[in-house]
Amino acid sequence: MAAAETERQLHIPVLLRPLLAAVAPVEGRWLDGTFGAGGYARGLLDAGAGEVIGVDRDPMALEMASAWAGDYGDRLRLVAGTFSRLDDHAAGPLDGVVLDLGVSSMQLDRAERGFSFQKDGPLDMRMSQEGESAADLVNTASEEALADILYHYGEERASRRIARAIVEARAAVPITRTLQLSEIVARCLPRPKPGQMHPATRSFQAIRIAVNAEFSELVEGLEAAERALKPGGRLAVVTFHSLEDRIVKRFLQLRSGGEGQGNRYAPETQAEAPRFTLPLRRAISPDEAELAENPRARSAKLRVGIRTDAPAGPVDAKALAMPLIPKKGRR
Ligand SMILES: C[S@@+](CC[C@H](N)C(=O)[O-])C[C@H]1O[C@@H](n2cnc3c(N)ncnc32)[C@H](O)[C@@H]1O
Repeated sequence: MAAAETERQLHIPVLLRPLLAAVAPVEGRWLDGTFGAGGYARGLLDAGAGEVIGVDRDPMALEMASAWAGDYGDRLRLVAGTFSRLDDHAAGPLDGVVLDLGVSSMQLDRAERGFSFQKDGPLDMRMSQEGESAADLVNTASEEALADILYHYGEERASRRIARAIVEARAAVPITRTLQLSEIVARCLPRPKPGQMHPATRSFQAIRIAVNAEFSELVEGLEAAERALKPGGRLAVVTFHSLEDRIVKRFLQLRSGGEGQGNRYAPETQAEAPRFTLPLRRAISPDEAELAENPRARSAKLRVGIRTDAPAGPVDAKALAMPLIPKKGRR
């Protein structure tokens, strides 16, 4: 069996079954903004989507799909790019948009991509394989900027201690490997008890978010989905940690006329017509059966909105509680 085929079968799409149930009926034009190993795209095509546009910023993800994408003929179109521009990629109104945020198992499991704090590899973490790498960031950012990133993007309480240790270590020798960084971080924190998460988890999350500008991508992606969806179109987003879930939750709350709209951040604006309705009372999490099969799904949450016919508009990132790195902290 070809390597790409084996890898696709090993990848288990998170929350796919509840997602398909929550967005039913699946028909017409859909866009999967985080194609990865293609689990969602295939699920949507098999559930009745006429066409799926699969977008990923990682060229490797699209390359791997070439082994099977032909099975779907012109019903599956692959685009290398970011989901912040999903309305451009769609080039026409959509019946549905799905986003499954974060890194894929494929990216995490390959040491050479530099996402893992448990496997030694180059300190890279770039999903698109271009631009500034994690090593560039870690070796050149000021101590203050590093501390801000660790605190705001990783909720790391020992951010200042870790930033100081990074700056001290890199003065002796550049930090170029994942294990080098994870050891520096681990030395700043208490040894974890059995069953506790690895001490570098939060720091690696923070640096990955900064390298890939994940929060601005998310806010712009939600805005782009609002522009691209037809009235009645479905938006489904799966998140993996509380910071990104908070952004999606607040976006859907505010855009459905919920708490905060038009008063706290813009007291003088009139309440606007809701741009989404919310078919679920709360976020959906994986059930026991899914967790037994795929423990990595532990922190996943699914939220869904249905587009109304109210005109799309810009979103205030502050109103979405997007963590912002203070200006003074930037390099
Ligand atoms: C969790 S995986 C998606 C897995 C996919 N649902 C599946 O079933 O195989 C996330 C994927 O989204 C991609 N990605 C993350 N942020 C992106 C962005 N802003 N634009 C485009 N792709 C992005 C990553 O490169 C990765 O391949």
